[in-house]
Amino acid sequence: MTFRTLDDAELQGRRALVRVDFNVPMADGRVSDDTRLRAALPTIEKLRTGGAKVVLLAHFDRPKGKRVPEMSLKPVVEPLSKLLGAPVAFADDCSGEAARAAIDALQPGGVILLENVRYEAGEEKNDPEFAKALAANGDLYVNDAFSAAHRAHASTEGLARLLPAYAGEQMRRELEALDKALGTPTRPVMGIVGGAKVSTKLDLLNNLVGKLDYLAIGGGMANTFQYAQGYDVGGSLCEKDMADTAREILGKAEQSGCRIILPVDVVVAEDLKPGVATETLKLEKGRALGDTKKIFDAGPETLALILQAMAAAKTLIWNGPLGVFEVQPFDKSTVQAALEAARLAMSGQLVAVAGGGDTVAALNAAGVADDFTFVSTAGGAFLEWMEGKELPGVAALAR
Ligand code: 3PG
Repeated sequence: MTFRTLDDAELQGRRALVRVDFNVPMADGRVSDDTRLRAALPTIEKLRTGGAKVVLLAHFDRPKGKRVPEMSLKPVVEPLSKLLGAPVAFADDCSGEAARAAIDALQPGGVILLENVRYEAGEEKNDPEFAKALAANGDLYVNDAFSAAHRAHASTEGLARLLPAYAGEQMRRELEALDKALGTPTRPVMGIVGGAKVSTKLDLLNNLVGKLDYLAIGGGMANTFQYAQGYDVGGSLCEKDMADTAREILGKAEQSGCRIILPVDVVVAEDLKPGVATETLKLEKGRALGDTKKIFDAGPETLALILQAMAAAKTLIWNGPLGVFEVQPFDKSTVQAALEAARLAMSGQLVAVAGGGDTVAALNAAGVADDFTFVSTAGGAFLEWMEGKELPGVAALAR
């Protein structure tokens, strides 16, 4: 897919409407994690250097077309301005006269953040009239919010149809990295998919088994696969009604030559508490785990199989932890696999791409997020992209 980038744009004195994703974690009305603010800086800098007026459009939370004061974007202004080292103006409306007057008052190179686009009902409806009202305040449109590109909203999709549309720097980086990981990857390509439930990752698993050479399945969803193959998983999280589906996925993987790596040994405990007594058990058919025991992590033999596949792979795509990494000692397999992926990525042997909220938190816990080839800031959008779905915000940028 090709799209226009900012290198193709005439910027001097023009009003650039830039869709960013400032849906950031907040605590007590303050930004508590500025990752997404930092991700927007390259685009903002490039536009400022080119002499554009930078008009930032964003959503925060889900106010559903109403002005909910706790969902204002105002708390973003100060940390953004600090990161930029330049003032950031704010307009308490995202369209109309108030916005127009504030944008008119900006100097070329100036930056303004407009109030939450989701205060307007037309945003989520992708209402053409609302999109026109937004477009009236800009000369060009830049989408830098890959993480909101799975939404067909006025500011993520509609605007791209009304103004000359460009991919921002973060959007471009994201699309390039994702293409390297799954679009046109260097083979063999390995996936690691974890998380609690098969039912929430069905589309993902179905898409991946047709594309990958190896797929390691971890987390709670691995229990469902083991149960489907006749292993006892004790009192562990397990979707017994998904057993047929799990067997179908395994069958499809076999047909398409994707080797599935499931746990061969597991770390169990009776409670999910830090420092609780644990046991490492091999999974054997006919062996009862006992109803009080629960699987919380993959064991060392499983980890060795995962690392072996990783050593053979040239590309890795990772979504979801292998165990309950938030509670020690059940973080071991996730952390060890993350460290090894980071080592291989740093030495140039592996393209390692990861995404999804839990995954990023797990890589941060392992201290290796910066060592991966690319870590996506997207949650839902990353997942939908991995499922092979078209993202409306990306599709609208295609030319
Ligand atoms: C996100 O945080 O994943 C994006 O900003 C999308 O938010 P949404 O799920 O409220 O559309």
